[in-house]
Amino acid sequence: MRQELSSREQWSSKLGFVLAAVGSAVGLGNLWGFAYRSSEGGGAAFVILYLLVVLVVCLPIFVAEFSLGRNTSSSAFLAPIKAAGSNWAPLGWLFIIAPVAIASYYAVIMGWTLDIFVQSLFVGLPDDIDQASKIFSSINNGNRDFIGQIFSLLLGGFIVSGGINKGIEKINKICMPILFILLVFLVIWAAFLDKSGEGYSNYLFNFDIKQLTNITTIRYAFSQAFFSLSLGIGIMVTYASYLNKKSKLPSQAIQIASLDTVVGLMAGLITFPIIFTFGLGETIKSSTLATLFITIPTGLGQYGLAGRIIAIAFFGLAYIAAITSLISLLEIPVSTLIDKFGLKRNFSAYATVFIIFLIGIPSVISTEFLANVDSLANILLIAGGFLVSFLIGWVVPKTLDIELTNSGSSPLVKTYLKFSLKYVTPIIVAAGLIVSIYDLLIKWTNSI
Ligand code: TRP
Repeated sequence: MRQELSSREQWSSKLGFVLAAVGSAVGLGNLWGFAYRSSEGGGAAFVILYLLVVLVVCLPIFVAEFSLGRNTSSSAFLAPIKAAGSNWAPLGWLFIIAPVAIASYYAVIMGWTLDIFVQSLFVGLPDDIDQASKIFSSINNGNRDFIGQIFSLLLGGFIVSGGINKGIEKINKICMPILFILLVFLVIWAAFLDKSGEGYSNYLFNFDIKQLTNITTIRYAFSQAFFSLSLGIGIMVTYASYLNKKSKLPSQAIQIASLDTVVGLMAGLITFPIIFTFGLGETIKSSTLATLFITIPTGLGQYGLAGRIIAIAFFGLAYIAAITSLISLLEIPVSTLIDKFGLKRNFSAYATVFIIFLIGIPSVISTEFLANVDSLANILLIAGGFLVSFLIGWVVPKTLDIELTNSGSSPLVKTYLKFSLKYVTPIIVAAGLIVSIYDLLIKWTNSI
């Protein structure tokens, strides 16, 4: 089944692959999604559910995506067909539609991030929450966010056109260490804020047992886990297709998932102390998307020059995290255009960003539209996760066997993963999917 294309690039080292996968996983989802989803009432219950989903559901799916990619050595669109025949073509299509949809609004949020970064650097921070809201709506309404969106897409296209080693791997090797240093610095800084304790307790220790069965909290936990780990839409399939046969898939899945989760939790340790120290708790309860872009600059604005420096570090960090995620989203359609149609990488990269730009126009114009595409895309991820686990657990379990043997996995790990992907993961994801669709439909019908 394995078809080696001699021209297919490979990661230059294990570290290169892990950094690229972590670069994809760690993004605005960790900084922005984690903060707003846990602040919307779920609190610690959300964090617990999220961790459970990561452990029980996402880790096996990670290995499943890796196996599929490495075994078929093909991009996400072709991998399901190569593994299980043309009946599985719809999964390939899902692997194209979902990343394009996500990239279309992801680039818009990147544009906001860049705008606030540039403002912090050259102009300064807002004096109060009203001014911050005004600044955000001036970014958000009109033509200004087109600039940030187009810039981000072009930058992403440029990096991806450089290929696996000289583009994706190189940028991650530069960006990921900078990101971790900034993150640790910001967590320490936030710990010394006046009301950091109150921030932590509202985030991690605000435990309400009823929230564990709240269907919105459950949907958020599933969405956050899949979105944050870049799982369910073939990114890990695509990245693993550039792997050599020897690397150990299960342990790499654990490394990537743990790093991503640690970053998610650390982001909360930054945002919550800021929010509570500056008395912005009420503002975030009523907002979702805008949390990061209104409250953080307002809070830091009260801190003079030091605050401005922190704002530059924070939004710089967010942008770095986002660009390494955006390129993973772009790589899926780009690698498909290359593999299936034999197009040149350069052309594929810029054609892809152009199409994504067009699809993203409504999200630039309406934040509500953006939020709806986000909710819908998150459902697609969960659906993709279900199909991948079903494919590897039931349809082509041999693929998993071969790849785990090549990885030198112990019999215990093998048995666990095989059992999980057959009897545990698909069932829990199916339940999560049904609950999430139901919750979203209720939300949408209520808002009509
Ligand atoms: N995981 C990234 C984040 O947390 C976003 C992202 C990149 C993504 N690739 C993805 C989300 C694939 C879902 C699927 O911001």
